Amino acid sequence: MKDKKAGTGLRQLKTRVKKTKLKNSSRRWLERHLNDPYVHRANAEGMRSRAAYKLIEINEKYKILAPGMKVVDLGAAPGGWCQIAAQVVKSKPESPSVVGIDYLPVDPMAGAIILQADFLDDDAPDKLIEALGGAPDVVLSDMAAPTTGHRRTDHIRTMHLCETAAHFAISVLKPGGHFLSKTFQGGAEGDVLTMLKQHFASVHHVKPPASRAESVELYILARNFKGRKDVPVEDGDDED
Ligand SMILES: C[S@@+](CC[C@H](N)C(=O)[O-])C[C@H]1O[C@@H](n2cnc3c(N)ncnc32)[C@H](O)[C@@H]1O
Repeated sequence: MKDKKAGTGLRQLKTRVKKTKLKNSSRRWLERHLNDPYVHRANAEGMRSRAAYKLIEINEKYKILAPGMKVVDLGAAPGGWCQIAAQVVKSKPESPSVVGIDYLPVDPMAGAIILQADFLDDDAPDKLIEALGGAPDVVLSDMAAPTTGHRRTDHIRTMHLCETAAHFAISVLKPGGHFLSKTFQGGAEGDVLTMLKQHFASVHHVKPPASRAESVELYILARNFKGRKDVPVEDGDDED
């Protein structure tokens, strides 16, 4: 492996990985990773992931996060989105207003509570809201199912995560809140879109520059939650 011109910022493909026992696909992944300007930027700027820049770019354009907000981050490891959310909402280390969940471990972070659990577990939604201490203003989901190598299977599993995250957002968000979720181009997302359009004033796809152009990854951004109609009406005296 030779890095002729290490550094940060945008740069031409320079680092090549020698043909060794690595499979071609692994070698291509490694080369792409080593030459990715966002990876270099993340290292230089102390970000936990290159994915952090996707949230930064989306938030710069759509301003979904603001100081004082409460945020849930689904699929948080290694912690890039939590890191950005905690900074932007000015989460206090003594009373964090950002709660993340992942079944992978995440290093502790000031301003965020991280639950190590599967979001698909029945008790995960209650645990998230309990840790947050109230309803969120924003639900983020960058969850992706582990790849199996079978594209269609991976797609269906990640779409299931997106759909479950959307149901969760609709059941917990404050009115006026926002939902941002990873999804994939093409395939079974019509039902999720229809459901989101019923509950949010604005729903559309976004592809931030940090999301690789060749990737089928996309994000759904649903803004201004209309609120739930199922808020229980207080019981009056039930007189006959
Ligand atoms: C692309 S990574 C998230 C990167 C993160 N946004 C960041 O900036 O560091 C996707 C994550 O989703 C997590 N994930 C997938 N399915 C999950 C589930 N059912 N419950 C919790 N986390 C899940 C994976 O473990 C993985 O860490």
